[in-house]
Amino acid sequence: MLEASVIGLGTMGSTLAQLLLQNGYRVTVWNRTIAKAKSLVQAGAVLAPNAAAAVSASPIIVVCVHDYSATNQILATKEVAAALAGRILIQLTTGSP
Ligand SMILES: NC(=O)c1ccc[n+]([C@@H]2O[C@H](COP(=O)([O-])OP(=O)(O)OC[C@H]3O[C@@H](n4cnc5c(N)ncnc54)[C@H](OP(=O)(O)O)[C@@H]3O)[C@@H](O)[C@H]2O)c1
Repeated sequence: MLEASVIGLGTMGSTLAQLLLQNGYRVTVWNRTIAKAKSLVQAGAVLAPNAAAAVSASPIIVVCVHDYSATNQILATKEVAAALAGRILIQLTTGSP
């Protein structure tokens, strides 16, 4: 089964997660504000307890949060760094070159 994790469930991340679910993916989600995952969980997504668990859950991880600073806050932990090895990280957050 195709698997992907989505980190950041704002307008864009939650829509991406919904589309992945609709296209048959097993989707794991994590968001700083947990309540935003509710409708996705009802639609079949799995809510990870933290970002490292979301990274560990899938071979492909989509990050879509406010900015690079937020991305760094999420990814720059030892747990997430260890979990990222060998996985594909797709950064959709808007940033500067
Ligand atoms: N919407 C679009 O059509 C669109 C199109 C192209 C590009 N983008 C880009 O995609 C990115 C997300 O856009 P959006 O419209 O989905 O934004 P949004 O609805 O404002 O959602 C922002 C997301 O970032 C999270 N976030 C912000 N600061 C955080 C932090 N310090 N730590 C952890 N999470 C944090 C928020 O978590 P909380 O829920 O906890 O606040 C939320 O999940 C942006 O970079 C935007 O420029 C969006």
